[in-house]
Parts: sequence; C-alpha cells; structure tokens
Amino acid sequence: MLSLSFCITLFTASTLALNFDWEAIQLTKVETHSYPAIRFGNVGDAIPRKVCKSVPGDADWPNDAEWKRFNDTLGGVLLKPKPLALPCYTGPFYDQAKCESLKTGWGNMTLHANDPISVCSQWASGDACVPASQPNSTCSQGGFPVYVVNATTARHVQMALNFARNMNIRIVIKNSGHDFNGRNLGGYALSVWVHNLRGAEYHENYVATGYSGRAVAVGGGSPAMDFYSLRTTYNTTMHLPGGSSVGVAGAYSQGGGHSSWSTIYGLSADNVLQINAVTADGRLVTADAQTNEDLYWAFRGGGGGNFGIVTSMVIATFPQTPLTSSSITFSTVPITGQATSNLTADVFWEGMKAYWDFCIPFCDAGGFGYNFIRHAASQNVTGLTFTTSISLPNYTLSETRAFVRPLLERLTEIGIPITIPQLQLKRSTNTQPTEDDGPLGTTAIGDSVHNTLIASRLFLRSNFDNAESVEEMNQAIRRFVEEGGYDFHGQNYNPNPSSRLTPPNALHPAFRKAIMHAQGYETNAHWDGVSPVLSYSEQKAHHDRLQGYMQQWRDITPGSGSYMNEGDAQTPNFKDDFWGDNYERLLRVKRERDPWGVFWVVGGVGSDAWEVKGREKFVTQHGVLCRAD
Ligand SMILES: Cc1cc2nc3c(=O)[nH]c(=O)nc-3n(C[C@H](O)[C@H](O)[C@H](O)COP(=O)(O)OP(=O)(O)OC[C@H]3O[C@@H](n4cnc5c(N)ncnc54)[C@H](O)[C@@H]3O)c2cc1C
Ligand SMILES: *[C@@H]1O[C@H](CO)[C@@H](O)[C@H](O)[C@H]1NC(C)=O
Ligand SMILES: *[C@@H]1O[C@H](CO)[C@@H](O)[C@H](O)[C@H]1NC(C)=O
Ligand SMILES: *[C@@H]1O[C@H](CO)[C@@H](O)[C@H](O)[C@H]1NC(C)=O
Ligand SMILES: *[C@@H]1O[C@H](CO)[C@@H](O)[C@H](O)[C@H]1NC(C)=O
Ligand SMILES: *[C@@H]1O[C@H](CO)[C@@H](O)[C@H](O)[C@H]1NC(C)=O
Ligand SMILES: *[C@@H]1O[C@H](CO)[C@@H](O)[C@H](O)[C@H]1NC(C)=O
Ligand SMILES: *[C@@H]1O[C@H](CO)[C@@H](O)[C@H](O)[C@H]1NC(C)=O
Ligand SMILES: *[C@@H]1O[C@H](CO)[C@@H](O)[C@H](O)[C@H]1NC(C)=O
Repeated sequence: MLSLSFCITLFTASTLALNFDWEAIQLTKVETHSYPAIRFGNVGDAIPRKVCKSVPGDADWPNDAEWKRFNDTLGGVLLKPKPLALPCYTGPFYDQAKCESLKTGWGNMTLHANDPISVCSQWASGDACVPASQPNSTCSQGGFPVYVVNATTARHVQMALNFARNMNIRIVIKNSGHDFNGRNLGGYALSVWVHNLRGAEYHENYVATGYSGRAVAVGGGSPAMDFYSLRTTYNTTMHLPGGSSVGVAGAYSQGGGHSSWSTIYGLSADNVLQINAVTADGRLVTADAQTNEDLYWAFRGGGGGNFGIVTSMVIATFPQTPLTSSSITFSTVPITGQATSNLTADVFWEGMKAYWDFCIPFCDAGGFGYNFIRHAASQNVTGLTFTTSISLPNYTLSETRAFVRPLLERLTEIGIPITIPQLQLKRSTNTQPTEDDGPLGTTAIGDSVHNTLIASRLFLRSNFDNAESVEEMNQAIRRFVEEGGYDFHGQNYNPNPSSRLTPPNALHPAFRKAIMHAQGYETNAHWDGVSPVLSYSEQKAHHDRLQGYMQQWRDITPGSGSYMNEGDAQTPNFKDDFWGDNYERLLRVKRERDPWGVFWVVGGVGSDAWEVKGREKFVTQHGVLCRAD
C-alpha cells in the first residue's frame, strides 16, 4: 500500500511540468484522509447516479458547518457573493447613488470582469438582478452561482472540484465573464473563479516535441492586457483576443482564438504547446504531445469548460511581424463630405460583391479582414453602412497600396469612389483592429456589445470562388440584414498556415477551408440588462427567429461549421456546427475523463446528456442541472 502510493507520487511528479509557483501548491492525498469531502476521484469507482445536481434545501446539500470546514481548509477564500446590482433593489442593501453609478457604468467591462460572479451576457442569469428602475421588483441569485472559490493556487482548484464532485454540486468556471452564451455561470453552482490565476512568462527557447523556439507561459486567468508589455519587451508577436480583458487560456485558446495574424499563423488553439489543468478527478495534469495526448488534443478546440480547469498553458509566439491596416467605408446614408455615402441599396450590395471577390486573394496573401454591415442613421435617413479593416502581415505600405488598388478600381466602376488617401493606411507591429475595450453598446460587437444574441457561420472558399456562389451568398447576407434586421459582422481569415507548429487538434475541420467567420446579431438593447428586459418566452421567440435566418446560411455552407466563442451555443446542430467529424472522438475523451459529468456547459461536448430544468429549447442558467435521459 505504502509503496504503491509512493510510486504514484513519483509518477505524478515526473510528468508534471509546472509553469508558475502557485501551481506547486497542491492538494495532497494525505490531507484528504481526514476529510473525505475533498478526496480525489478515481475513474474506476462506482458512481452514484443522481438525477439532478444538488440545490440548497436538498437533504444532501452541505450544511453551514460543512461549508465552514471547506472554507477553513481552503484558507478562507470561499465567497458567497450577492449579485452586483443588489443596491438597486429595496432592502438592506438599497443605495440610490450606487445604483445610479451601476446603471451608467453597466457597460464597463472592468466592472463585470472584477466581480466574482457578474457576467456580460446578463440574460443567461435569467436577468435575475439587473440595475432596475423599479426598486420594488426582486433581485434573486437566479443563474448566478451560490458559492465561489477565489482561486490563487492549484490546490484551491483541486479542492473545489473534489468537493463539488463528491457533494454532487454543479461546478462552473468564471474567467473574464465575456462569454456570449452564459457558459461562465450556473444556478445553485459552486464557481471556480480563475481570474486571479495570473502569470505571464516569456521563453526565448522553449523546447517541446517538434518545437523549439519562442513561447509564453500564460496563467489560467490572465487577460490579454497582461501580455502587451511582454510583446514589446521581447519583440514578439502573439495571438491575443481583441478585448483587453478577455482571458487568453480560457475559452479563447480552447475554442479557437483568432487575431490579425491568424491566416499566417493559425488560431491560438493551433499554437498551444502545453496545458496544465485540473481534471474532473481533481488531479493536476500536464497535457502535451507526449503526455495525456487525448487531453492535449481535446483541449485545443474542444472548447472551454469541458475537460478540466486550465491553470496554465504554454503558447508559441512569433518573430515580431508588423502589419499594415487600412479601412474602407461605404454607406447608403448621406454622410457629409463622403463621396461613398448616400448609395442606393443595389449599388451598396454590388459593392459588397466586389468585397467578397477580394476575400480569396486577400486571405491567400495572409490577410485578416474585420468588418461590419450596420444599420445606421444619418441626417434622418436610416440605412446600411459597411466598414472594413484590411490587415496584411509583413506588407509594407506601398505593397498594401498596390494590393488593394484592384478592389478600389472595381468599387469606383460600381459608383463607390474610394481613393488611396481615404484608406488611412497604418503600419504597426503589435496592434490589432479589434483591440479596443470600449464601453458596451457603442460600437463593434467584438469590442463591446455583449448582451445580445449572436450566431456564427464559417463561409468557405467554395462560397467565394465563383460568381454564382458569391451571388447566392450576397443574397443570403442581404436578406439576413435587410429583412431580418440584424447587424452583420464578418471576419476574414483562413487559419491554414503552411507550417503547422503543433499536431492536429479538435478544432472543426471547416476552419481550414474558411474564408470568413460571419456573425449576425440583434442591434437593439433588449439584452443589455438596463433597458426593460425581455420575458423568457420573448427571448425564446427572438432566438428561434435568429436561428431561422441562420438556417439560410447553413443551407449554402454544407459541411461547414461555426465559431463557438462568437456564435450561438444553442444551435440545434451543436455537434456538427462546432466540431464536425471531430465530435465522436471528443465525446470518447469526455466520457473517459469525466464519467461523473462534473463539467457541463451549454453547447459543450456531451452537453445533451444534461439539461437545465424548466428551460425548454432556450437555455438560461436559471434552474437545476439534471440528467436529460
Ligand atoms: C470584447 C471582446 C473581444 C473579443 N475578441 C476576440 C478575438 O479577438 N478573438 C476571438 O477569438 N475571440 C474574441 N472574443 C470572444 C471570446 O473568445 C469569448 O467571449 C470567450 O467566451 C471569452 O472567454 P473567457 O475565457 O475570457 O471568459 P468566461 O466568459 O469567463 O468563460 C468562458 C468559458 O470558458 C471556460 N473557461 C474560462 N477559463 C477557463 C479555464 N481556465 N479552464 C477551463 N475553462 C475555462 C468557462 O468555463 C466558460 O465556459 C471576444 C469577446 C469579447 C467580449
Ligand atoms: C471564508 O472565510 C473567510 C475568512 O475567515 C471569511 O472572510 C469569509 O467570509 C468566509 N466565507 C464564507 C462564504 O463564509
Ligand atoms: C470602468 O471601471 C473601472 C473600475 O471600476 C474604472 O477604473 C474605469 O475608469 C471605468 N471605465 C470607464 C470608461 O468608465
Ligand atoms: C415600493 O414599496 C414601498 C412600500 O410598499 C412604497 O412606499 C413605494 O412607493 C414603492 N416604490 C415604488 C417605486 O413603487
Ligand atoms: C480574491 O483574491 C485576490 C488575491 O488574493 C484578492 O486580491 C481579492 O481581493 C479577492 N477577491 C475577493 C472578492 O475576495
Ligand atoms: C527589441 O527591438 C528593439 C528595437 O529594434 C531593440 O532595441 C531591442 O534590443 C530588442 N529587444 C530584444 C529583447 O531583442
Ligand atoms: C441622396 O440621394 C437621393 C436620391 O438619389 C437624393 O434625392 C438626395 O438629395 C441625396 N441626399 C444627399 C444628402 O445627398
Ligand atoms: C431630422 O428630423 C428632425 C425632427 O423631425 C428635424 O427637426 C431635423 O431638422 C431633421 N434633420 C435633418 C438633418 O434633416
Ligand atoms: C513574416 O515576417 C516574419 C518576420 O520577418 C517571418 O519570420 C515570417 O516567416 C513571415 N511570415 C510570412 C507568412 O511571410
């Protein structure tokens, strides 16, 4: 017995490759002998099959003394937070001044990112507690978790997972809180708040199987902004999300993760060299090309919140790769002094076709496009405005001018005269067109709008490579925007670099053929948590309508997929949409690694085995998580 556990310890020690000191602070097996609630899980153990996760009031929900023991053993990092907007409601916490500042600041991401439970997509909580104008309405915990572990060590994460698994409590993970689909919260749950698992360390010569070169070790909760100075100091280019507070090792690198360099260097998930994570059994493991290869494959594309809680990652970075960017705008509304405004709708959509024709050569040149078709008003006229930023890595300004000239000539022929000086050409080393963490509800979806419904589809090379398909795609997008009334957000990239740094991963194979990740979203404020909120049945109706339009995009992109982090997790075809042919293998890994069903997120791998009770078809996190079978 003694020698066996000694061997296990040795084995573990030899395969763990830690990136940060706080990962060395781990739960030991010895500690669990006297405290069974935090014992590790063993995949071979018989699993008591409970239909639903436990909720407060249930006989098996831990009593106060048990929570206290858990907190004491954690060293006091257990929180029981109330919803952020509580001061807006009648009761002991009512505070009019605080409420007013919450209302005005509600669109400020920092507010939500720094709160242990608040998230950007408030609808997912069931709009349980939004800054209300009617203080006598009620603020409830809704879809927000009941308890939070403010994790700063691997041990905190391990204890939380073991306690939740052994006590049959739902577990959720909150990182930055940006998720568009409520995958970062859950009713009656224990949340692991990874926000304070921070670290950023540059390695000039990191060696892994098949790789030797630049890399950065990233803490499980580190946001993009933690890497800005590192990039400059070490003259390196690195994939980062556009929003400065979005996590790097969370959903971004586990579900895809694009940046302006994604056509030439792939997605962030393509560049992950090593992952440290606490798996469903409570153990901290290293996954790389030689260790726990199943997890290494699954974590890179399988999506956040499915296979474990990542404490850190090592991600390959690149030699400093400058890019030029330029912008093009044209509109159907009159804009003073703009020759490319006041276009008729038909000319506008001819202009869009010229842009679509540009997308294949653009991606083949390594480019990244970031565009919108927005419903906009100007001089009392409502219409559509197209804006795009065109980024070309490794291009000089004069090369870029030459590259875009044919597009400008074509637009001019159509009646959209854009001249080179209007391009606002810039050359920079490490900024991205999406890098703007502005307030909510103002400009770009990537920058700001969160409280909305979105859906995504990858349009493929075959949609762009002949006139007939381009016409069909243009019509489908036109209907989506004009008849559907949605805004459009396109991102052009083809993450299929000639030299792949890492072995194949679980990302949807359609990414390799993609020319555009296209999103549609609602433009009004129904989802912002401040304006009067929609009822559950209204939300469901909005969702069904958006899915109806999305079907028209699906119909012309057979076999393609969707980018889960910027799409609709409640797509009826989540398996095909997010993973395609990789789904079955992902499900096998999920069943082997998590036979308990510890990890569950909407639209996740194996997520159809569970459901949030009381929600039919449209899922908010306000409810009990139960087995669906
Ligand atoms: C302003 C803004 C800009 C964006 N820019 C980009 C962009 O440029 N490129 C791009 O690809 N995407 C971008 N996104 C989309 C972004 O990838 C998603 O919103 C994503 O869900 C954010 O996840 P998060 O990990 O930061 O945080 P959360 O919302 O807290 O978590 C999301 C999910 O990830 C899981 N998760 C988080 N951390 C961990 C962890 N340590 N271990 C295991 N699971 C974890 C959670 O369980 C949850 O399921 C942007 C989003 C916004 C709002
Ligand atoms: C956990 O313990 C700390 C330190 O004693 C205390 O401040 C905190 O309120 C406790 N958490 C809960 C949920 O009781
Ligand atoms: C957002 O909130 C943070 C933290 O409360 C604050 O420092 C920052 O100034 C706010 N930003 C804006 C634009 O109000
Ligand atoms: C809220 O309820 C209190 C007590 O019933 C009442 O005095 C007050 O006018 C109500 N406020 C509003 C805004 O309805
Ligand atoms: C969470 O932990 C961090 C690091 O110890 C600490 O700075 C922060 O105040 C804690 N947050 C809360 C809400 O307790
Ligand atoms: C980064 O580049 C700058 C400017 O070229 C140079 O001065 C500096 O030494 C470089 N830093 C490193 C770490 O290579
Ligand atoms: C816009 O175009 C319409 C129709 O071509 C024309 O009648 C109108 O005067 C134009 N408005 C502006 C501000 O140029
Ligand atoms: C827009 O409409 C308002 C109200 O009808 C009017 O007062 C204003 O002059 C109009 N502005 C323009 C630029 O036409
Ligand atoms: C871009 O430039 C960098 C730095 O010079 C170089 O290493 C890289 O290979 C280039 N990438 C492409 C796709 O040309």
